Amino acid sequence: MQPNLYHVLGAKQFSRAELDDLFEASKRMEEVVRAGGNRSHEGRIMTTLFFEASTRTRLSFESAMSRLGGSVIGTENAAQFSSAIKGETLEDTIRIVTGYSDVIVIRHTDIGAAKRAAAVAGVPVINAGDGAGEHPTQALLDAYTIQKEMSRIDGVRIAMVGDLAYGRTVHSLSYILANYKDVMIYYISPDNVRIPSSVKRYMEERGVRYEETTDLNAVAGSIDVLYQTRIQKERFPSLEEYEKASGQYIVDEELLSRMQKNAIVMHPLPRAGEITEGVDSDPRAAYFRQAQNGLYIRMALIDKCLKGV
Ligand code: CP
Repeated sequence: MQPNLYHVLGAKQFSRAELDDLFEASKRMEEVVRAGGNRSHEGRIMTTLFFEASTRTRLSFESAMSRLGGSVIGTENAAQFSSAIKGETLEDTIRIVTGYSDVIVIRHTDIGAAKRAAAVAGVPVINAGDGAGEHPTQALLDAYTIQKEMSRIDGVRIAMVGDLAYGRTVHSLSYILANYKDVMIYYISPDNVRIPSSVKRYMEERGVRYEETTDLNAVAGSIDVLYQTRIQKERFPSLEEYEKASGQYIVDEELLSRMQKNAIVMHPLPRAGEITEGVDSDPRAAYFRQAQNGLYIRMALIDKCLKGV
């Protein structure tokens, strides 16, 4: 890995000081967007290589680069429409794309794919999701959303709900939250998709309080943030396992009525029925504002990558 490059590969790489700086930079990017964008990265090119489906991550990265005056090349279905289908290795693809662009954003099916890419890249690599592994830029926008909505992250009480085994966003968000004081995490999931022991071990090493439970109703009234996730059908080994996990936790108006008046509901999206549309009009429904924050965070990350370490 070239030492002068700034990659975004996993959430553990961020310190509290870096998070504070990034959130300040993201706030400035909100101003840039309000002013119609700038030309700060005119002439620079970003490649998006998406081997898995995406709406928010790919389009917000592409919008972010455009808002900074840069250009975008890429493929939204790299598994079929890049030469991966002819047998080209990920490493060779990255070696080639390095010659065409200044930063690479990659989403891949395999855990560790972004790290493999960074090992051979001559430009910064940003992990836009690696299978069931991590989704660090999502976690950064999630933490930024909590800070904006609650005016703090220290002391926050958060319930992460749903598919905690394959849900890469909750892995990365846990690692980010480990930088903050007095955080309490409730991991609430069906039995067959519990939070991995590797995540729990990291929380223990960092002294983060957490509790595993299956009872969302029991904690709904005492939390600041309800972070709902989709049960990801596409990641289960069998339909039977998926059906065991699906439909158990639905955020609806009844559940919302038990939550605190200043609590928020978040979701990385897309949703597939686990938050009813009746919740959308409640001011505590923060998930669309959360998705919008992805633009500002990704502008700040692109800016950081292009400026280098
Ligand atoms: N939250 C998220 O990663 O959404 P997409 O899959 O649409 O990018």
